[in-house]
Amino acid sequence: MTIRTSVEDSVACIELARPERKNAITAQMYTDMADALESAAHDASVRAIVLHGNDAVFSAGNDIQDFLERPPSSESSSTVRFMKTLAAQEKPVIAAVNGAAVGIGTTLLMHCDLVYCADDAMFSMPFVSLGLCPEFASSLLVPLSAGYHKAAEKLLLGEPISAEEALEMGIVNRLVPPGEVLPLAMRQARRFQALPPVAVRETKRLLKAGWRSAVQNAMTTELETFRRLLTSPESKEAFNAFLERRKPDFSRVAGT
Ligand code: COA
Repeated sequence: MTIRTSVEDSVACIELARPERKNAITAQMYTDMADALESAAHDASVRAIVLHGNDAVFSAGNDIQDFLERPPSSESSSTVRFMKTLAAQEKPVIAAVNGAAVGIGTTLLMHCDLVYCADDAMFSMPFVSLGLCPEFASSLLVPLSAGYHKAAEKLLLGEPISAEEALEMGIVNRLVPPGEVLPLAMRQARRFQALPPVAVRETKRLLKAGWRSAVQNAMTTELETFRRLLTSPESKEAFNAFLERRKPDFSRVAGT
């Protein structure tokens, strides 16, 4: 089992539970997470959702091997379904991040409502290094949170983002010592039990209304570009290098 779900005290927990692969996400895990998000949306007893990894890692992003075997080649792919389900979730989603959050491990946080992380957590969006481009509307949402130049540093150069920097960039709410991240996320999630659910839902809808259609457009355009880049010599070199455990050599691919 690689996704663990539970419902307790009005909180639905979705845990990435694949520690041997640093919680890298496979197509099956995207399907399971989308199913869990949908069932939380339909369960009247659920007032909030907590998304978390383990004490050591949040997620290493897409499972590279699985991703190459099952690329998100259509709108109906499990990755796209997961993205749309999270972006459309009406109940509050709270993320608890320990350790590394790479690729979609970082971009999915832009669609959560509250994000708590360990003071030693590390984020990164190394899409360019993989010959790819931003996904999950991160090309829109990172500049919106952090400003264009900071976003360019993180998305063009793929520079890692420390927890302090993530706080400055406005992509996390609060830093706490590692052992306190999940308990804090759970406490915050339980607070929704005492709040009126319709007012919470409408407030979340209004908070996101200003850029909802821009998010949908960004996801569509990014995916078109992402799919095109996936077949490029640059991404082939990057993925082969990852699988062969060597540094990629982009001097050998023709730049166009
Ligand atoms: N896909 C597939 N396998 C992955 C993976 C991924 N995204 N990330 C890590 N793994 C595997 C490693 O290959 C390694 O396998 P092995 O035990 O057979 O050697 C195992 O998980 C442990 O990873 P390792 O790199 O040794 O752990 P670490 O603690 O030193 O570093 C990370 C953790 C997350 C920082 C590092 O694994 C990493 O950067 N992964 C790549 C992330 C990435 O590029 N994701 C973008 C995908 S779009």
